[in-house]
Amino acid sequence: MAAFAAGEHLWVKRLGNLRNTIRQEVIRRQLAGHVAGGMTVLDVGCGQGTQAIRLAQLGCVVTGIEPSDTLRALCAESAADQRVGIELIAGTIDHMDDLLGDRRFDLVCAHGLLMYLPDRSAAISTLAGRVQRGGLLSVTWTLPPMRTSTRCSMPRTAPGVPTRIAGWRRSCT
Ligand SMILES: C[S@@+](CC[C@H](N)C(=O)[O-])C[C@H]1O[C@@H](n2cnc3c(N)ncnc32)[C@H](O)[C@@H]1O
Repeated sequence: MAAFAAGEHLWVKRLGNLRNTIRQEVIRRQLAGHVAGGMTVLDVGCGQGTQAIRLAQLGCVVTGIEPSDTLRALCAESAADQRVGIELIAGTIDHMDDLLGDRRFDLVCAHGLLMYLPDRSAAISTLAGRVQRGGLLSVTWTLPPMRTSTRCSMPRTAPGVPTRIAGWRRSCT
């Protein structure tokens, strides 16, 4: 929480900007092929609720865990505007046992969260532990900036596909 809290005001200020709009749309499209009405969804670090609300609009039964009072309030307000119900829980990924007991979900999301956590491997295990058998885990995070001179190796998959990409910098989600 502390790692994100320092920049929370910037996150809120930039919610409607082009980068975040595209980012949310990329995530929406990725999820769209996997969700159906009636699925149970856990969104950890749901923030302002962009995806949680979209999933609820599709008929999913959505639970969001969010430590920030400000973002939880934004999420609740948007959900009310859109006339969808979301179970919103105050807390962090570290307290999911207390918050959720033994509940598991068809889809567990953690978008834009992992880069703020000290131990990503542990976080992924924690998230995966909440996925129902046969369910899905959806995570996105921002990679640290790389120098423009960095080259990353790519396997050659087809004639004409480059084996190296120069100037690759960071992911968009
Ligand atoms: C970059 S925002 C992403 C919000 C939303 N998931 C999205 O993709 O639009 C990161 C979110 O993670 C939340 N967060 C930060 N630390 C957390 C933690 N330890 N456990 C759960 N959520 C946390 C923040 O409060 C914030 O809502």
